[in-house]
Amino acid sequence: MAYVGDLAKLFSGSSLTDNANTGVVKLGDGRVVCLTETQKGSLVIDPNSLETLGRFEYSDSLGGLIHSAHPIVTDAEFLTLLPDLLKPGYLVVRMEPGTNERKVIGRVNCSGGPAPGWVHSFPVTQHYVVVPEMPLRYCAQNLLRAEPTPLYKFEWHPQSKAFLHVMCKASGKVVTSVEVPLFVTFHFINAYKEEDEDGRVTSIIADCCEHHADTSILDQLRLKNLRFFKGEDVLPDARVGRFKIPLDGSRNGKLEAALEADEHGRGIDMCSINPAYLGKKYRYAYACGAQRPCHFPNTLTKLDFVEKKAKNWYDEGAVPSEPFFVARPGATEEDDGVVISLISEKNGGGYALLLDGSTFKEITRAKLPYGLPYGLHGCWVPKK
Ligand SMILES: [Fe+2]
Repeated sequence: MAYVGDLAKLFSGSSLTDNANTGVVKLGDGRVVCLTETQKGSLVIDPNSLETLGRFEYSDSLGGLIHSAHPIVTDAEFLTLLPDLLKPGYLVVRMEPGTNERKVIGRVNCSGGPAPGWVHSFPVTQHYVVVPEMPLRYCAQNLLRAEPTPLYKFEWHPQSKAFLHVMCKASGKVVTSVEVPLFVTFHFINAYKEEDEDGRVTSIIADCCEHHADTSILDQLRLKNLRFFKGEDVLPDARVGRFKIPLDGSRNGKLEAALEADEHGRGIDMCSINPAYLGKKYRYAYACGAQRPCHFPNTLTKLDFVEKKAKNWYDEGAVPSEPFFVARPGATEEDDGVVISLISEKNGGGYALLLDGSTFKEITRAKLPYGLPYGLHGCWVPKK
């Protein structure tokens, strides 16, 4: 009977958090929603006062408990992934502005098991959705537990291998599924198509912040480890992982570093790009990197994938949140704009930092009248 009770708990989601502390997105209709891994942790806020207005209720009948914490949001649509724990796979769904109804684009069946891989985020090109299947997989037993396990709600199954699936946004068809080297990522950066001289699409490139297929970063980011810095260099190495997914029917994709990881201190996460380059070939990304020794990503870094160089900002003791790029109105260059990050200071204070998107030099900082917790994600909501 206890098992039946546990199952009921899982399907009611009572053991899952509704703390919407992972990300903030502005929907195409202007609503601003805070999100986390669970669907019930979706809250609508007032972007001016930051007051919570209520839960974001999905009006469809797709059900499910969890989704990708980072949907792809544009003025035209909201795309996300709903993992299917019973029959391992993912539903790719779209929601149009002004509605709360998600509609299914298509379904991807997992190539490995026993459960779908964790999808904290995923990338898209203009025409395709890339569905990642990491060997770090959801675990129903861990989802039931309120107490954290070593890998939270997940389990590491290297023998189950890693895959990337590519779905056509228009038809919902899976155009290819390839096995790739084992990987661990929280955050995909972007994806785009590669063409041959005749304009035929030959492959998809997908970039992510990749932790060398090592799950120790999950343990390292526990609060008890973050609160105390003893001068030891304990942040695990990470790199910009660049996947190449062939579209010629080959069964295997490639994974390599997009630039030398020493450029950004062998730490990389919390990435963003110029939103106008979503799904398109792009040159620059902004992220949190590392100046070692450190226990936490402690720099802001601008990555240049053409020159394969990085520019870094560092202030001793500062912990930056995800940097987000805001283009200068009328800009034509990809990096013409500013980069904003909220910084937690060593002394408990906090400030908003403004960097030049091109030179990556500090323009100004605005002190906040209160301290900030360690930052995660943010977003820019223009005042209109
Ligand atoms: Fe995230």
